[in-house]
Amino acid sequence: ASRERLLVVANRLPVSAVRRGVDSWHLEISVGGLVSALLGVKEFETRWIGWAGVNVPDEIGQRALIKALAEKRCIPVFLDEEIVHQYYNGYCNNILWPLFHYLGLPQEDRLATTRSFQSQFDAYKKANQMFAEVVKEHYVEGDVVWCHDYHLMFLPKCLKERNRKMKVGWFLHTPFPSSEIHRTLPSRLELLRSVLAADLVGFHTYDYARHFVSACTRILGLEGTPEGVEDQGRLTRVAAFNLKERFAGRKVMLGVDRLDMIKGIPQKILAFEKFLEENPNWRDKVVLLQIAVPTRTDVPEYQKLTSQVHEIVGRINGRFGTLTAVPIHHLDRSLDFHALCALYAVTDVALVTSLRDGMNLVSYEFVACQASKKGVLILSEFAGAAQSLGAGAILVNPWNVTEVASSIGYALNMPADEREKRHHHNFVHVTTHTSQEWAATFVSELNDTIVEAQLRT
Ligand code: UDP
Ligand code: G6P
Repeated sequence: ASRERLLVVANRLPVSAVRRGVDSWHLEISVGGLVSALLGVKEFETRWIGWAGVNVPDEIGQRALIKALAEKRCIPVFLDEEIVHQYYNGYCNNILWPLFHYLGLPQEDRLATTRSFQSQFDAYKKANQMFAEVVKEHYVEGDVVWCHDYHLMFLPKCLKERNRKMKVGWFLHTPFPSSEIHRTLPSRLELLRSVLAADLVGFHTYDYARHFVSACTRILGLEGTPEGVEDQGRLTRVAAFNLKERFAGRKVMLGVDRLDMIKGIPQKILAFEKFLEENPNWRDKVVLLQIAVPTRTDVPEYQKLTSQVHEIVGRINGRFGTLTAVPIHHLDRSLDFHALCALYAVTDVALVTSLRDGMNLVSYEFVACQASKKGVLILSEFAGAAQSLGAGAILVNPWNVTEVASSIGYALNMPADEREKRHHHNFVHVTTHTSQEWAATFVSELNDTIVEAQLRT
């Protein structure tokens, strides 16, 4: 039998394009949890629709890029510079992203954001319409259309308006915040309504699903049930789908993050500093390797974070470094997946200190690569992954630098039998809850939802 067709629609394609000439393109793998999760999914006949991360104003370039991407089963949505500025840098990453992660805007930016809100939201809707057009062009009857993330909350509605029979699912890779937070958003009504046009709406954890349902009941006045949200006899199912999936003589601690405010990188480094301060005997016996992948570099908040982190790292290395070694190795670049796995495998303690994080795949990947080493995972209680890996990890509040510092000590000194027990716990979870299974359950639930809906009418 032929495999079921799946159209994955996400703002970011799994490859990003770099121009090499008038009609020549180089494709690089994109970094982020959404891409990692979906690249693991093999059992569908999958096509991706999304943005290649680059502005292509000319037709020759567009045609060449379409061709290059086709080999990767990717279909580009071309967004011009102004749309990217307003929709991606603006509405998505300056408004929705911080809000969904409970990060307030700095005071000086708040008014500016209020002023530009409407034009950014208009651009957001326009961009979502552009995605919808490309989907429509490539849709074949029976396809499952799976929309992803906060960039495309308007898409389910756009798709259903074009074709009521299309099977549409939407999955959020970030937290969905408490309804008290969501209701501060000027576009709160429209966003919820358009997401509800999907047949199935999915989240990483039960808390996020519950927050979404209560936003729909409180803000839209709809009836919320454990199954989902009901609007004039039409049920949108809401559910949680956990992801089922040279330093000789020194202990290696590892951090792997996009250089994003939500990752709590400064907090992590300050906690490490405190640990070194309080434990002089460890100073030449441990190294913190921090991979900080540049991201969203046109958004001012991200630029500020970069210089802030550099400053802290420089200060600490100056303070505790010697002629031959420094305590922190900070890399402003990405690694390919194989190099990353090799790093995970040699790490003694992984340090994930997100202030908020939808799931955090890095913690899953670390556990998966530790079959022989059985290292320790220190994990923020504010990451979605804390709900599934909490039993084996040391959970910390990343804002509490004293607690994180003492957890570092605890992890580095942990006896082998405790490490094994904790590792085993998480390893079983990660290897039984794979991204394969996550996608398969989402799609089969989506198909079931549609069959049930047909029976109801
Ligand atoms: N990653 C990578 N190269 C790097 C750093 C990270 O391929 O240099 C990948 C990493 O393996 C993981 C993803 O990027 O799969 C990050 O996902 P996560 O859910 O931890 O966080 P997100 O970036 O989505 O917020
Ligand atoms: C998070 C988001 C993804 C996004 C990724 C990388 O994981 O949930 O949707 O793709 O960050 O960010 P970027 O803005 O580079 O796509």
